[in-house]
Amino acid sequence: MKNTIIITGGAGFIGSHVVRLFVNKYPEYHIINVDKLTYAGNLANLKDVEDKPNYTFVRADICDFDTIYALMQREHVDGIIHLAAESHVDRSIKDPFTFAKTNVMGTLSLLQAAKLYWESLPEGYEGKRFYHISTDEVYGALEMTHPEGIQPPFSTKASSGQHHLAYGELFFTEDLKYQPHSPYSAAKASSDHFVRAYHDTYGLPTIVTNCSNNYGPYQFPEKLIPLFINNIRHRRPLPVYGKGENVRDWLYVEDHARAIDVIFHRGTIAETYNIGGFNEWKNIDIIRVLINTVDRLLGRPEGADMDLITYVTDRAGHDLRYAIDSSKLQRELGWEPSLQFEEGIEKTVRWYLDHQDWMDNVTSGDYQKYYDEMYKNR
Ligand code: NAD
Ligand code: DAU
Repeated sequence: MKNTIIITGGAGFIGSHVVRLFVNKYPEYHIINVDKLTYAGNLANLKDVEDKPNYTFVRADICDFDTIYALMQREHVDGIIHLAAESHVDRSIKDPFTFAKTNVMGTLSLLQAAKLYWESLPEGYEGKRFYHISTDEVYGALEMTHPEGIQPPFSTKASSGQHHLAYGELFFTEDLKYQPHSPYSAAKASSDHFVRAYHDTYGLPTIVTNCSNNYGPYQFPEKLIPLFINNIRHRRPLPVYGKGENVRDWLYVEDHARAIDVIFHRGTIAETYNIGGFNEWKNIDIIRVLINTVDRLLGRPEGADMDLITYVTDRAGHDLRYAIDSSKLQRELGWEPSLQFEEGIEKTVRWYLDHQDWMDNVTSGDYQKYYDEMYKNR
């Protein structure tokens, strides 16, 4: 049984949902959230669990090997769930060095600390686990073609047997070769390779998962969904890259957190699992849904804000289509998404509209003072 677990990047979007799930579901575990609190880290995301006895926050940079190693020794850490990363593609295009440093060197530093600490124990790697959270973007981009010339979107069946809208014949499967295009995905791909190398070379008990686009509460409003919800609310332009034809496969963030729980506890060492929503959408279609939903919930005529759509220069190297086949995870561990997209998007829009204080805090940068305030007297 893994009792003391470091979750890196727990103050970010997905990490905060994972921390909340583990702290509440496993009161007998000690959950240590290790986060540097970059612009993307926000302790207000965890207000509801910060006083729980089984939760500790440690502000640290994953690149700081000495601090991570000392923490592992001091706390007798049994498992690591690694989410800390620079995560935004547009930022990676402007500043690739930061992405290489955190995503590659940071992951390497964690791997080495885990290896040295666990190897020093009498039981060695027994009962230990290093779980690395990665992205579907490492696989590159899929085409939007069908061998029989059928025009997308068309209904198809993933090998899991679940129906979903598909814009192409191919899906990302676990055995696909890596073809990352952005500095972000190149850095994540590199970190995945290091994780597998630590298993193959030293026997470190690792697992890697590659997940599709997440959406839900607490996502930093540089990403499409929270940015556009906030802009629609304030009637600001919606910058649609290119023609808005790119396809993403969307998964509600709590479903990702549930998958992480299942895989951390029951996944097979050295395996890779894809995690996805069976839920492909063209950006422009999702944007129309967002406009209609925000308008309706704010009591405006539905679609009144369609004129906010503003086509802008495309993202450099913009991947056309992502689509995950997560049937291995479904087949082997019984996980599947719990929420229909319509339900998830309604919940998400409501959450952002009901938490304007959170959004204002984040967009003003005030949230970064929270940590200093909170810890000044401790
Ligand atoms: P995020 O940007 O919201 O959060 C990242 C967190 O990592 C922040 O709290 C930040 O402070 C922390 N962090 C950054 N650099 C650090 C460092 N050097 N040391 C310690 N902490 C540091 O990211 P997210 O969207 O929640 O993504 C989390 C993970 O999931 C990432 O590894 C990402 O690649 C992966 N992922 C994200 C998605 C998605 O749709 N958002 C999908 C698949 C995989
Ligand atoms: O696929 C998983 C990945 O999903 C994660 O690994 C990344 O961390 C996460 O950021 C996300 O990457 P994307 O680039 O797909 O997400 P983003 O929200 O930035 O963009 C979604 C789509 O919307 C993409 O095709 C670009 C487009 N877009 C985005 C923004 C911010 C716009 O058209 N306009 C925008 O202003």
